[in-house]
Amino acid sequence: MRTSWVQLTQAIADCTNCALCEGCTQKVPGQGDPDAPLMLIGEGPGQQEDQQGLAFVGPAGQLLTKMLAAIQLPRERVYICNIVKCRPPNNRTPLPAETEACQPHLLAQWALVQPKVVLLLGSTAVRGVLGENYRITRIRGQWYERGDVPILATYHPSALLRDPEKKRDAWTDLKIVRQKLIDLGQYTDLLKGEL
Ligand code: URA
Repeated sequence: MRTSWVQLTQAIADCTNCALCEGCTQKVPGQGDPDAPLMLIGEGPGQQEDQQGLAFVGPAGQLLTKMLAAIQLPRERVYICNIVKCRPPNNRTPLPAETEACQPHLLAQWALVQPKVVLLLGSTAVRGVLGENYRITRIRGQWYERGDVPILATYHPSALLRDPEKKRDAWTDLKIVRQKLIDLGQYTDLLKGEL
């Protein structure tokens, strides 16, 4: 039987699969439209996310909100989560073992949302979903698939804040995602006209 949202939220709250739970303020499961055609996956909670219990609410999240708005998607209409649900100490990159320990939660989220398109944000999401050998710099902007779901990777918004020159590529990637959603007949009430 498939896990329900209630069971999943509880499983994440109770999770001790790795040591990250010992240092975080609270779990950050993710949020948004549970039936969203577009699912976004980031790395892990930062300081503000850890304090608020919500994904992508700090500076990177604010940029992400603007990026989504630029392709006519209000962020409440997408589902946003992270590879790991607990903040790593000092915002370090999650270890492969931590990514693996959190994987059942991500897979359960994926199964519940049943996204039509998945957008990976940054290298941790790329490695966590596509595999350890995939590199964001090589594969961004290209379509991959997992179980018939088209997956595209772009830079993490934090990387765009550090290096604004990457914004041009990220914009290209977002437009590719938008076109895929249009081609799949998704968000017909929102995605209108040329950008
Ligand atoms: N960075 C992430 O990868 N996820 C968040 O939720 C916030 C910052």
